Amino acid sequence: MLTEKMEKNLNKQVNAELYSSYLYLSMSAYFSEINLGGCAHWMRLQAEEELAHGLKIYDYINERGGRPVLGSIDAPPQSWDSPVDVFENVLKHEQKVTSMINELVDLAIKEKDHATNNFLQWFVAEQVEEEASASDVLQKVKLASSDAGGMFFLDQEFGKRVLHSEE
Ligand code: FEO
Repeated sequence: MLTEKMEKNLNKQVNAELYSSYLYLSMSAYFSEINLGGCAHWMRLQAEEELAHGLKIYDYINERGGRPVLGSIDAPPQSWDSPVDVFENVLKHEQKVTSMINELVDLAIKEKDHATNNFLQWFVAEQVEEEASASDVLQKVKLASSDAGGMFFLDQEFGKRVLHSEE
């Protein structure tokens, strides 16, 4: 059984993951608009991954006898200055999500909710990967954008991304 506070904060995280999905889908739309189809594809998969994160927490709330409550999702920004600007914002956003996950873990420990603490460890590990991946992609985009053909080739590489289950 989840405490009321734990349930409320897990629900807040469902909303945050769905917002992440919305944000990355909006970034995907931006890339389509500027004809970077590979980046659009990469970002769309990222949006799907975030939806899966939200559902994972939704399922967990149900499993523990809680009640998923779906609030409104903020509208994400619609445009960015450049591909570099997009990926700088991805990294910033993932760092924010990491701190939200850490706060949830702190709460689970405070509430002596070992099951939720254990459940959240998946997200702790996932955030290490998410931040590393965002940082890696940002460096590549920074390098590619300083050379005329670079972004074209990088876009092709991003177009090959596949979604791994459990992401
Ligand atoms: Fe679900 Fe990218 O954090």
